[in-house]
Amino acid sequence: MKIEAMIVYVAFNHLLKPQPMRDKIRVAPSILSADFSRLKDEIASIEKGKADMVHIDIMDGHFVPNITIGAPVVKSLNNVTDLLLDVHLMIENPENYIDDFSKAGADMISVHIEATDHLHRLIQLIKANNVLAGVALNPSTPIGWLEEVISDLDFIVIMSVNPGFGGQKYIPQSTEKVRRLRAMIDEYGLDIDIQVDGGVNDVNAKDLADAGADILVAGSFVFGSDDRPGAIKSIAG
Ligand code: DX5
Ligand code: ZN
Repeated sequence: MKIEAMIVYVAFNHLLKPQPMRDKIRVAPSILSADFSRLKDEIASIEKGKADMVHIDIMDGHFVPNITIGAPVVKSLNNVTDLLLDVHLMIENPENYIDDFSKAGADMISVHIEATDHLHRLIQLIKANNVLAGVALNPSTPIGWLEEVISDLDFIVIMSVNPGFGGQKYIPQSTEKVRRLRAMIDEYGLDIDIQVDGGVNDVNAKDLADAGADILVAGSFVFGSDDRPGAIKSIAG
């Protein structure tokens, strides 16, 4: 085949290949930046603002240099909201706490690939609790590390800051990482949500959606705004 004809063939073939329809962006405000003395009201404000879920950051002072909350707080939140509870475990020995967080009402649990030697077993444990299973990757962790478990996952979290704190600056390379991950998921013919966590705001949200993200976590951008519905809407696009 002549080279020009080959280029046309390859381009056309790509167009014909069915690409899964992506739903609209879902927004997961992170309560790390909320006022902890008024958590019930804070959650009501994002519920009213049409958030799709609430992102709950669990930190142990070992895996990350910060300590936040545990399963009892998740249980209390479960009593005051119908929003999906998206629990992000930034802890060592996550396998010891899956049952607790599941019983507390988590609908989704993500664990860090860097925090366990037995990722496959850990994912099975989350699924056995009837909770959606996600794996989070630190900014320096390659997406290739997911290859052997990817078909078992419900969602993948691309960390776009180094985990541990709210209000950090978005790492720009994360957008391309999301694009490469979306291509990898499509190549395997899977239907997996990509969640992006860290430094998300109304400036980078559109590029992330175009790159193939499904769920955008935003802490300081949403809870730092007096207009919660407006902030959520500006990210959802
Ligand atoms: C970082 C946490 C994030 C954080 C996001 O370790 O996992 O969920 O709360 O906060 P912002 O959106 O302020 O970067
Ligand atoms: Zn998080």
